[in-house]
Amino acid sequence: MMAGAAALLLLFAATPLAAAAANGGSSAAASQLPPQCQLADGGYPPISNVTFLGPSLAVQAGGIEWSYHRFGNASAGKPPLVMIHGLGGTQYDWPMSVLQGLAAAREVVIFDNPRAGLSNDSSTAPLSIEGMAASTMELLRALELEQPDVQGFSLGGMVALALAAEYSAELGAVVSVGGSAGGADAPQPQGGMDAVLRAIVEAGPESIDLVFPGGANDTVGYCNLMTNVESLQLAVSTQADNPGSGYALHAGIIPTPSALAVSTDVKNQQREAIDAFYAGPSLVPQLRNSSSQILLMAGSQDRVVPPSTQTQLAAQLIAAGLVQVPDAGHLVAFQHPDAFVRQVTAFLDSAQTVNPQQIGRAHV
Ligand SMILES: *[C@@H]1O[C@H](CO)[C@@H](O)[C@H](O)[C@H]1NC(C)=O
Ligand SMILES: *[C@@H]1O[C@H](CO)[C@@H](O)[C@H](O)[C@H]1NC(C)=O
Ligand SMILES: *[C@@H]1O[C@H](CO)[C@@H](O)[C@H](O)[C@H]1NC(C)=O
Ligand SMILES: *[C@@H]1O[C@H](CO)[C@@H](O)[C@H](O)[C@H]1NC(C)=O
Ligand SMILES: *[C@@H]1O[C@H](CO)[C@@H](O)[C@H](O)[C@H]1NC(C)=O
Repeated sequence: MMAGAAALLLLFAATPLAAAAANGGSSAAASQLPPQCQLADGGYPPISNVTFLGPSLAVQAGGIEWSYHRFGNASAGKPPLVMIHGLGGTQYDWPMSVLQGLAAAREVVIFDNPRAGLSNDSSTAPLSIEGMAASTMELLRALELEQPDVQGFSLGGMVALALAAEYSAELGAVVSVGGSAGGADAPQPQGGMDAVLRAIVEAGPESIDLVFPGGANDTVGYCNLMTNVESLQLAVSTQADNPGSGYALHAGIIPTPSALAVSTDVKNQQREAIDAFYAGPSLVPQLRNSSSQILLMAGSQDRVVPPSTQTQLAAQLIAAGLVQVPDAGHLVAFQHPDAFVRQVTAFLDSAQTVNPQQIGRAHV
């Protein structure tokens, strides 16, 4: 969830990749991927070329120096899609194939959440979900995006719902993946939300088991995640002996390796923001008044944000769509990148503005 896809890339970069390098770093493909990611022909999945993201951009809004990318197909005549990453991550933690797939038919904006990656925040006040939504709205206004669609994952899915609750007059449709509307009645994962978040912040080996139902045995999702990690690390490395390295640095796409980093302090601030979101009032009353059409997506085996969160919320929000992916955990986009793009694209292409008054009447 909180571990947005973004968070996880960084979280796991240090451990499994380092271990894989120590075990078999001299394999023919020079891949740092773990052995279970080897393909039938003995090779490894190709790394992603992140050049399609275009240059790293910066803009000031709401007291924050935002780092962002804007890319994709601006001539398709559709609203831009703004993507909000999760806890512990950065804007680069979305699966690159998902970003590329979504960008084929619309403009896409990714950005670092406040205090993550290269987005510098002049405030040191505690982070909150509602505060992040307000800051993000300032960013969208500064970019002069017209009725953008919004998609968030985990922590980002909570921020996306807070945007739909508060600012729907300025937004299009909203997708929340593994997110929550908060409140004391929201389901908690086994062990409690705070304990699960602490495990994700610590990024120990068990955090892989939290985000994929079979942990590293779910090789499609796990290897997609690890391939993304490897792609990013290669893109920002400057190893002279590696021909694919450094191109993101040199082309200004990912300007510095620290663009991939989030401090433990900030991860804990994000964890505390989620804790407060669950302790506070639910967004449901405001969401029932939202003019944004909402899609709730979840892996049916999510161990971080229980999938009952989405079913409960869908029942409370008359205008919400619900997609549950049967064999998927929290990182559903890494387990099913193609289906994820198809579902989100189909929803956004068909989404209409909702008239809350009509919905209210229909409901009564
Ligand atoms: C945030 O600060 C870092 C370190 O000074 C700097 O490299 C980066 O460009 C800043 N981010 C933005 C968006 O200006
Ligand atoms: C952009 O989208 C339009 C409309 O869907 C499509 O016809 C066109 O081929 C796309 N352009 C690119 C470069 O993919
Ligand atoms: C992964 O597979 C191993 C070997 O079968 C098993 O011991 C382990 O429990 C599995 N992990 C998960 C999270 O299912
Ligand atoms: C990535 O793609 C760009 C544009 O297609 C190309 O110029 C560049 O050589 C590629 N870089 C790598 C490392 O493959
Ligand atoms: C519902 O939305 C309308 C129009 O934006 C607003 O005036 C009203 O205060 C909202 N009500 C609630 C309960 O949020």
